[in-house]
Amino acid sequence: MTETTPSKSPVLQVQGLRVLLHSEGGMLAAVNGVDFELHAGRTLALVGESGAGKSLTSLALMRLVGKGAAGRGATLQGQAWLDTGSGRVDLLALAPAQLPALRGKALAMIFQEPMTSLNPVFRVGWQIAESLVRHEGLSQAAADARALELLQLVGIPDAAARRRAYPHELSGGMRQRVMIAMALACRPRLVIADEPTTALDVTVQAQVLALMRRLQREIGMALLFVTHDLGVVAQMADEVAVMYAGRIVERAEVRALFAAPRHPYTAALLRSMPGVAGVDAGRLVEPIPGSMPPLTRLPAGCAFHPRCAFADAARCSVEMPEMRQLAGRWLRCARAAELGALR
Ligand SMILES: Nc1ncnc2c1ncn2[C@@H]1O[C@H](COP(=O)(O)OP(=O)(O)OP(=O)(O)O)[C@@H](O)[C@H]1O
Ligand code: SF4
Ligand SMILES: [Mg+2]
Repeated sequence: MTETTPSKSPVLQVQGLRVLLHSEGGMLAAVNGVDFELHAGRTLALVGESGAGKSLTSLALMRLVGKGAAGRGATLQGQAWLDTGSGRVDLLALAPAQLPALRGKALAMIFQEPMTSLNPVFRVGWQIAESLVRHEGLSQAAADARALELLQLVGIPDAAARRRAYPHELSGGMRQRVMIAMALACRPRLVIADEPTTALDVTVQAQVLALMRRLQREIGMALLFVTHDLGVVAQMADEVAVMYAGRIVERAEVRALFAAPRHPYTAALLRSMPGVAGVDAGRLVEPIPGSMPPLTRLPAGCAFHPRCAFADAARCSVEMPEMRQLAGRWLRCARAAELGALR
């Protein structure tokens, strides 16, 4: 048994999640039947090339699809059960009026760009305190004191003075820390982080990631972490879900996935990125031929088949493979059993 052994009941259980974008030509399935579960204290990294559906998956769980960046109309299907601590709710079935009470309290999101969740016209300390007054029912004085503690916890130097700063008066790294403090203020059960450190320089990124890991241990939250960076995956994740064209194609424990990928796309994706320290640093980078097809022109059968070195025309271009359990992981590949480990 390791410290990351999952407890029995997941904090989040996603079943058959679909995000159908409304377009002039009809509905486009940008997320198409995503299933996973996530336990307390665990981190699931969602990886895949640009356009795979990672952000839409995250935004759908926060019920933010159709708003802001993902502004066009969309229909959500499937179920996403969140254990709030006082019962299970299906995030996809909640009425809009029920969402504010849950956001920030039971689940929180950390975005790449802190200004999407910080309000430019309020001082940062006040914004954190406000969430504590609203969700935790603290008095203003108690909330102010807790906000200060949180700013210190996320490593803001001279937090007593900085809490009076407006977001634009802080550096990018400091704003990211403030957003993390705000996301974690009410000790959420689930945090969804979409490329939270991509915009930061390497040193600050390492500090922020270490901080998130430490706070996760203290709070015991489940973390869904979207990233392009395999080094970040190796540092943060317990489990990895690899997405391609709106579907998860392989889901495995992080060490098993790096050591022996079994889906041809996973193997190609790992080879297409620089090696990771302690895993395979220094190996050659091999780009994946071709590119991910647009949603309007998804091929029949396995969506990866036009780019797959192992495609079997008779099978792979005809039928979409089912997700199957094999060798201690989940795989969506018609040839997975015969191909074995691809490294
Ligand atoms: N507002 C939108 N309008 C039209 N298409 C969209 C919108 N948001 C997402 N899409 C499409 O949905 C698909 C999935 O997008 P998503 O943003 O989830 O990808 P991603 O995996 O997060 O990519 P990246 O790594 O670039 O962030 C893409 O084909 C994208 O073009
Ligand atoms: S189903 Fe076929 S095309 Fe798709 S990944 Fe497997 S071998 Fe390649
Ligand atoms: Mg994205």
